[in-house]
Amino acid sequence: MSEGSFSRVGVVGLGTMGAGIAEVLARGGLAVVGVEINQDALERGRGHLEKSTGRAVKRGRLTEDGQREILDRIRLTTDFGDLAECDLVVEAVPERLDLKHRVFAELDKVVRDDAILATNTSSLSVTAIAAATSRPAKVVGVHFFNPAPVMKLVEVIGTVLTEDGAVDRVAALVKGLGKTPVVIGDRAGFVANRLLFGYLNDAARMLETKHASRDDIDTAMTAGGGLPMGPFTLMDLIGLDTCLEVLEAIYAETRDRRHAPAPVLRELVTAGLLGRKTGRGFYAHDAAAAEETAQDGPPPSVAIVGDEALSRAFAAAASAVGAPTAKIENADLIVASGEEADVASIEGRAKKGAVVLSDGGLTGGGALAAHKPEKDRPLVEIGLTPVTTSASADRAAELVAALGLTPVRCRARRGYIVDALRFPYINDAVTMLDAGYADADAIDAAMTLGCGYPAGPIAEIDRLGIGRALDQLEYDPDEANSAVADRLREQWDLGLTFR
Ligand SMILES: NC(=O)c1ccc[n+]([C@@H]2O[C@H](COP(=O)([O-])OP(=O)(O)OC[C@H]3O[C@@H](n4cnc5c(N)ncnc54)[C@H](O)[C@@H]3O)[C@@H](O)[C@H]2O)c1
Repeated sequence: MSEGSFSRVGVVGLGTMGAGIAEVLARGGLAVVGVEINQDALERGRGHLEKSTGRAVKRGRLTEDGQREILDRIRLTTDFGDLAECDLVVEAVPERLDLKHRVFAELDKVVRDDAILATNTSSLSVTAIAAATSRPAKVVGVHFFNPAPVMKLVEVIGTVLTEDGAVDRVAALVKGLGKTPVVIGDRAGFVANRLLFGYLNDAARMLETKHASRDDIDTAMTAGGGLPMGPFTLMDLIGLDTCLEVLEAIYAETRDRRHAPAPVLRELVTAGLLGRKTGRGFYAHDAAAAEETAQDGPPPSVAIVGDEALSRAFAAAASAVGAPTAKIENADLIVASGEEADVASIEGRAKKGAVVLSDGGLTGGGALAAHKPEKDRPLVEIGLTPVTTSASADRAAELVAALGLTPVRCRARRGYIVDALRFPYINDAVTMLDAGYADADAIDAAMTLGCGYPAGPIAEIDRLGIGRALDQLEYDPDEANSAVADRLREQWDLGLTFR
């Protein structure tokens, strides 16, 4: 074995994560020893490995010979003693501290003294796991994402007890396996989950307070936030029990009200509605697919007033679908923005049944506030006031959809949906940067590679503008506002960007 490298690696627990990790290691040419608790579990683990590599063969990503070589490199056993010659062991048993302690105590007895012991825990303290062993200096966290063979991100966690070099050796191994390691300190949720779950919890609270519906929040974050899936689809996929567990671990450390699990999450878990795995969570997954709503008929006639972003977006959309332009008096939809938008007078001139959308905040009459968060994305957030009727909100959504745009409805409150969810998340990322346990590259890599964000939060601040972030976060320079990250204010005061 050359200095800094590993040649024989053990994996304890061959469930969802352990089997994937064993496959990744074997694909990288390492000899792997996979340990399970009993023969039945071992056979299940073998099944995971055969299925996953078999899928790769079917998809033409692996030859049958290649599959055999990978499987041949993995020795399966129920005897912890077979780990004796490993120079690294990765533990991937269920997320319970007492169980992890028992497994590490066993490893401590049988594995060579100079070997590194790693845990794949998502939310437990690596320090607490390390401290209970007789070799705390050799314990690290190595957090793979699901599915391990596919996901590029691996968080490598060192504790205050970890010896120099251990984290670097594991990070080098991860890199050699074709993954991207990010090296960070031991904080609940590490980087990706800590940032992701604050946002997911905010979304759950947004639903609970009836700011917007489940579907509108999910649509807003995909069509307007650029995410691969909305927060409720994602929580159902992760499992609501896991979401609750991770949030509780983060909240126990931060005591930040934003991490206190939203009551709706706890209610669903108590009711046994855990998401996809039980067939129902925020969504009913066994229900027939929603019917397509066909957009028939000619596009509506549109009057555009003003030249701000909202008006320009609607002018472009109307022209793209060939919607006729009309005078205010004859238009089905009137979009008014900026200084020229005297909404009260426009409403006075509009025909009965017409919808007026404006970029103002709370609109007093029948007009609806609308917000188009990104110029190259189709989302239009329609803001409802306490006096908006559901008929006019429905009609507005219908007209927006007829122009090829994606409507969602929410209360006409600061940030609507997308900004109200993304700026606290961005603020959390800057707070994390300030706390010194992850740098900007680690944070951005964690969110793009681990959670599918199109760009990391630190890169996003520069794109969206610190001013806009401070505005959304209601930063007041005359008040000590602990919610806004100090670093965000400093960068703003100095006129600096983050990258
Ligand atoms: N599932 C995910 O999406 C995910 C993602 C990242 C990290 N994690 C973390 O990975 C770890 C494993 O999660 P999972 O989803 O793979 O769980 P899992 O339940 O699918 O697999 C756990 C496996 O450990 C085995 N096991 C239990 N006790 C054992 C023992 N004493 N010795 C040997 N094997 C034992 C079980 O038989 C089972 O096969 C947890 O710490 C979890 O937090 C999970």
